[in-house]
Amino acid sequence: MRPRENYTPFIAAGLILTVALMIVFQIYLWLEPTRIQTVQAADQSTAVAAGRNIFAENCAACHGEKGEGKLGAALNSRTLLKTTTDQTLFGLISTGVPGTIMPAWSQTHGGPFTDQQIAHLVAFIRAWEPTAPEPVIATIAPDPARGATIFAGTCAICHGEDGKGAKAAPALNDAKRLKEFDDAWYRDTIMHGRPAKGMPTWGTVLAPQQINDLIALLGAWREGREVTPTTSLAKQISNALFAIRQFDKVDAGFYLSAALPLANSSQTKEINAALELVKGNHLSEAEARLVALLPPSEIGKELYASNCAPCHGDDGSGGLGKSLRNSKYIQSKSDSELVDFVAVGRKGTAMDGFKNILSDEQLSYIIALLRAWQK
Ligand code: HEC
Ligand code: HEC
Ligand code: HEC
Repeated sequence: MRPRENYTPFIAAGLILTVALMIVFQIYLWLEPTRIQTVQAADQSTAVAAGRNIFAENCAACHGEKGEGKLGAALNSRTLLKTTTDQTLFGLISTGVPGTIMPAWSQTHGGPFTDQQIAHLVAFIRAWEPTAPEPVIATIAPDPARGATIFAGTCAICHGEDGKGAKAAPALNDAKRLKEFDDAWYRDTIMHGRPAKGMPTWGTVLAPQQINDLIALLGAWREGREVTPTTSLAKQISNALFAIRQFDKVDAGFYLSAALPLANSSQTKEINAALELVKGNHLSEAEARLVALLPPSEIGKELYASNCAPCHGDDGSGGLGKSLRNSKYIQSKSDSELVDFVAVGRKGTAMDGFKNILSDEQLSYIIALLRAWQK
């Protein structure tokens, strides 16, 4: 008789193996989440690092190196990050903000970056959240010179240049009266106005900061100081030119008068001559005189500083955007070709079109500046 086959050792070995496998699998299951987390964390920090580089080269010029905000909004802000999902950030960066100089960055919208690069930017910005500061409520010190600019643009039309008084409203630059009442009284008067007597209510029109600046101006007048507005001759003349082209004689006269205190003696002569021409309704002669007085490139400087300088450098020597000085590209194009180029932008780069931001006329002033840089 053949001995009965004994399977017991095999069954035992099989059982032990199965149990061992189950234990190993269990351990694997225990460790898996940590493993996934480690891999995810590594991915995340790679994304953040990649985003950091893209941000430094492309965004810091407008949003500040630490996202604190400059010409562009503060991104390193608890309020913004708390209320904005990754998806929304992704969308804002992809499409840009129409009507502002925030360009579209995704290739889908004509910008330079892939979706992955934009996701890296989002990861980098999101990583600020745990330490992001509350946005600082701007505590800008009141500034009499800024106040004088507001006064020249808003109050002088009734209260006269430098608050000297005019037919429409009493003098404000009267040291005696200014000493009778304190800042709080003036603030109240300006905020509430005296609508029945022709003094408008400014509290709903001007920002609190602007009213602070006006109070600072009155404070300077109280001490008998003279204050020059922080505005440039170029700005007043370009406002006047704009008004002339709209056949608005009243505004043109207003801006030309506002330009006078900013002008030197030969400019004063020209501005007075233009004022006479405006009064006599010789608008195109007035325009020609003003254009001659202030070359378009001077007006262009102002527009360049707030629209192009963040990317092309304050003096046009380049940054994120190419250098615009001694540029073969600019030299090879006519003025109208350049206006068209800047209006449309260049697909696949951060050079977005400006057609919704600047008029052709404004662009032509900027082009005049670019031309002046080609010598
Ligand atoms: C030429 C200047 C400029 C550059 C360069 C720029 N931005 Fe902006 N950005 C702006 C401005 C201006 C705004 C605010 C638009 C507005 O008024 O709502 C803005 C808004 C934003 C917003 C929306 C913020 C909010 O509060 O709604 C995000 C997000 C943003 N930018 C991200 C970026 C990133 C990321 C980059 C780089 C890839 C970048 N920006 C480059 C000017 C710029
Ligand atoms: C539309 C014309 C007009 C404009 C614009 C105007 N005001 Fe007046 N304001 C008046 C008139 C009129 C009075 C005098 C009211 C009265 O008779 O009580 C006055 C009175 C005042 C007084 C009180 C003066 C006093 O000694 O009693 C202050 C202060 C003042 N204005 C400040 C301002 C400031 C600051 C602005 C610009 C933000 C401004 N006003 C713009 C018409 C104007
Ligand atoms: C958000 C950044 C940004 C802003 C703002 C910007 N540019 Fe650009 N610009 C660029 C970039 C990037 C290029 C280069 C595109 C490329 O690589 O072909 C460029 C290219 C140009 C060129 C072509 C230069 C060449 O040699 O090909 C001109 C001209 C120009 N920009 C003018 C302007 C003017 C004028 C403004 C303001 C009205 C302006 N740009 C605002 C980023 C910007």
